[in-house]
Amino acid sequence: MITRRLFLANASAVLAAAGVRPPLWALSPARKSDASVSSMMLLGVDYYPDQTPESLWEEDARMIAETGFTNVRVAEFAWSLMEPSEGKFDFAWLHRSVVTLQKHGIQVILGTPSAAPPPWLTAKYPDVLMVNDQGMTVSPGGRRFTCPTNKVYRRLSLDIATEMARSFADTPGIIGWQIDNEFTLQRWGRCYCKFCRAGFQDWLRMKYGTLDEINTKWGTAFWSQVYTDFSQIPVPLPSNGDPNPGLALDYHRYQSYANASFLEEQLTMLRKTCPKHSVTTNNVGAPLDTIDLHELYKNLDFVCHDNYPGFAQMFMQGAPSEAVATLISLGHDSMRGVKDGKPFMIMEEQSGKAGQSFFSPPPHKGQIRLWTYQAVAHGAMGLNYFRWDTANFGAEEYWHGMLNHDRSKSPSFDEIQQTVKELKTLGQEMLQSSYASNAAIFFDLNSAWATVIQPGNTKLTFASQLTAWYGSMASAHVGIDVIQPESDLSRYKAVFAPLPYVVTPREAANIRKFVQAGGLFVGGFRLGVKDENSQIVRTPLPGLLRDVMGTTVKDYMPIYTEKIGVKFSSMLAGPDADCSLWADILQPSSASVLATYTAGPYSGEPAITINSFGQGKAVYLGADLDPASLARVFAALLGSAGIKSSFDVPRGVEVCTRKSGAKEWTFLLNHTGAMQAVTVPGQFKDLLTGATHSGKIGLDAYEVRVLQPI
Ligand code: GAL
Repeated sequence: MITRRLFLANASAVLAAAGVRPPLWALSPARKSDASVSSMMLLGVDYYPDQTPESLWEEDARMIAETGFTNVRVAEFAWSLMEPSEGKFDFAWLHRSVVTLQKHGIQVILGTPSAAPPPWLTAKYPDVLMVNDQGMTVSPGGRRFTCPTNKVYRRLSLDIATEMARSFADTPGIIGWQIDNEFTLQRWGRCYCKFCRAGFQDWLRMKYGTLDEINTKWGTAFWSQVYTDFSQIPVPLPSNGDPNPGLALDYHRYQSYANASFLEEQLTMLRKTCPKHSVTTNNVGAPLDTIDLHELYKNLDFVCHDNYPGFAQMFMQGAPSEAVATLISLGHDSMRGVKDGKPFMIMEEQSGKAGQSFFSPPPHKGQIRLWTYQAVAHGAMGLNYFRWDTANFGAEEYWHGMLNHDRSKSPSFDEIQQTVKELKTLGQEMLQSSYASNAAIFFDLNSAWATVIQPGNTKLTFASQLTAWYGSMASAHVGIDVIQPESDLSRYKAVFAPLPYVVTPREAANIRKFVQAGGLFVGGFRLGVKDENSQIVRTPLPGLLRDVMGTTVKDYMPIYTEKIGVKFSSMLAGPDADCSLWADILQPSSASVLATYTAGPYSGEPAITINSFGQGKAVYLGADLDPASLARVFAALLGSAGIKSSFDVPRGVEVCTRKSGAKEWTFLLNHTGAMQAVTVPGQFKDLLTGATHSGKIGLDAYEVRVLQPI
């Protein structure tokens, strides 16, 4: 599984379901009217009255209002206070807190508490505990330690959420709900217990209908695995040999489905009980593979995620701040893609030093404001800072909020207050505007999951390829959308597909149509090796896309100790590159060669080709290029598709544009600790200072500009 920590650790090294949804559980109707929360300005803070003496609530509410915040999120981890024993509910304290906040004009988003059940529950129902991929039962005492399939856990989670919803449906000041907390945050992203096994078998029955179909689609003739009863089908726990790849891929899909349907139960109830409230859920702001987020957010009102550059700083030790910034941008772009580019909310935005068992460095002066604007530049419509005060107890007592442990103001307090004021001035039209991009990159879960099951090279991961490709595209300072292979591609001039291991017939048709109509498609090594059942295609590679790419794959090889170089020609002419983890050896039919290998068994053979197909072009990138060469190659390819920033921007400065009708806002973000100069194309008004600029603009360390063309 790609966890937040693994993703970031991996990223540091590289940077320099599908599946059907059978009606096992009811689906909630999508909201008809515009969600109340998404039409109001949301500039708030995450608040924990459950962890704060009641004598301080009044002072908190007053200060929260004085800071300029519009709302808080509360109670997402307060189950043991709201249901101290089974079936005995106590919401009186939470009502008192809401009344206090309302008195000061602060609106409230309530969190349902299913991410952290109380000790009485796990003591009485120990079966609700998750079993990890080694067969070990996960202990209570942390959070996110329960099984998503377990019916008792589903019932108890729905009960507390329902009682909460009934109690607060008509309470003034309640504007919306966050269901659970960070479904994608898991040390172990999958549960392998007996309930999940039974749930998986039911899901397979719905998906495939018959065992014959399953046996064929998975190829169970291999290693004597032909199933004659659904109850025989195992989950992929350790078995002295790798599991069937088709079964393992379907298990990823099942676990994703189980989590999404867990959320759907609370959502269906909330739609009925609180029809006026908006509903969302927050997640880690990174392209993790725990859950298909398109499935999770399908019926929610808007996407929501948590933004902690401090985590990236901790786990990408030694990486320059612009590499951290690129990772954070990838997180925002991937989350924006979950609801097809619609503005998203940041439910938790870092407000100080981050810290659980390790602590991040303190943010530099200006950096919290910069990270806030980075989120806004990439499409945020609102933000809540995490958190108001700093806890004096618990596992996150070092997660520094806006008030220090002694309740004095944190070093970032004034900066946050200023930022909130500025965002209010920039206004709702900007916060609701759309992100502008002509290029897109695929984040394909089928390929990500299939690569986790069979990486091919011990060091090859989907996350590291996605990050390397995104980073290389981003270094050309162009807007990027993170999309799925089945998304509408007609909006883009160029589409990039890193490690596209699985290609379904629909995806192949979508790519073919895009290239035919004039688009540039860039496909990475391992293109189209597998079908959606994780079987290898019985045609020459790249399988369904042979005609589009105009080349076949003569051989493929993981690279370990042998050094292999790549020599470029024609439109990619430039310095030689290193090829590290993988090499597809290409044999063009109609394509032309853009690069060849310079050593190894295939020295002199094609590594990169380009093919004209219909009105467009298709590039096969067979080699795993070093980051600098990848960036150079991508800049050339983007340029050939007419994608080039009109701003002259140095490394470490980001430029993003949001649009609404004829209006546009361009954000210049200096992620470096030094002064930088940007040359702008034409005359611009600086919306934060009122100044007019043309030509060269200087940006101080960590400075932000919001420009509008005049
Ligand atoms: C998020 C989570 C919060 C808090 C925060 C800081 O992952 O939603 O509850 O833990 O990170 O670690």
